[in-house]
Amino acid sequence: MRTKIIAGNWKMNNNCAEAVELVKELKAKVADAKCEVVICPSFTSLCCVAPEIKGTNIKLGAQNVHFAQNGAFTGEISADMLKSIGVLYAIIGHSERRQYFGETDETVNKRTIAALGGGLIPIVCVGEHLEQREQGITEKVVVEQTKLAFTGISAADAEKVVIAYEPVWAIGTGKTATSEQANEVCAIIRNTIKALYGDDVAAKIRIQYGGSMNDANAAELLGMSDIDGGLIGGASLKADAFAVIVKAAG
Ligand code: 13P
Repeated sequence: MRTKIIAGNWKMNNNCAEAVELVKELKAKVADAKCEVVICPSFTSLCCVAPEIKGTNIKLGAQNVHFAQNGAFTGEISADMLKSIGVLYAIIGHSERRQYFGETDETVNKRTIAALGGGLIPIVCVGEHLEQREQGITEKVVVEQTKLAFTGISAADAEKVVIAYEPVWAIGTGKTATSEQANEVCAIIRNTIKALYGDDVAAKIRIQYGGSMNDANAAELLGMSDIDGGLIGGASLKADAFAVIVKAAG
C-alpha cells in the first residue's frame, strides 16, 4: 500500500510572518492526518516555518533545487543548503518553471539527480499543455517527460521519487481534470516507470495529481486507483481547505 502524500505548493505567496501564521493555523487541523503532509513555502520562509513545524507531522519542501553542490550560481540554492535547515522534499520542473524560467527536461533530470544525491525527495512535475491534449499527444508528452526526468537514476533511487502529474491547462484555472482523465494519465506514468524499472518500483512509486485540486473535488480524485496524493496550489494557502484535502487522503 502506498502512503498518500498531500503537498502544498505555496508558490510566490506569503512573507515570513504570513507563512508562520498559516502554519500555526494548519498544525492542529492536520495533526491526525493518515497521509504524509508537506508544505512548500518560498525559500525565504523555509527558515521561519521550520521551528513552527518541529515535532508535528508537517514536513518541509522547497519549490526548486539547483543541480550543483555549490559554486558560482548566483541566486540558486543547493540540496545541501536545503537539507541543513530541515527541508526533506523539493519540487522540480513545475510547469511554471518550465514556462517562465527556462527549465527543460535536461535540467529537471539534473536537479532530480542532485536532490537525490543530497538526500532530498524530489517531487518531479510532468504534464501536457492544452494544445497538446487537443492534439491527442498527452501520452507522448508525459511519457517523454517522465523518461527524461529519470535518465541515469537507479531503481533504488527511483522508488523514492514522487511524480506530480499536473496538466498545465488545469493549473490555477479552476478547470480540474476529471478523476478519470487524471487517473488515466497517472496510470500511463506508472506504466512508464514499470517499463523503466519493473513491477516493484512501479508499485511503490507515488504519483500525485495537481491542478485546481480543492476541498470539493479532492475526495473523488484521491479515490482513484493510480492517484497517490495531490500537489495543491491555491487551496493550500487556506488552512481549512488544505485540511479538508488532507482528510480526504486518509
Ligand atoms: P492550483 O492548485 O492553484 O491549480 O495549482 C496547482 C499547482 O500548480 C501545484 O503545483
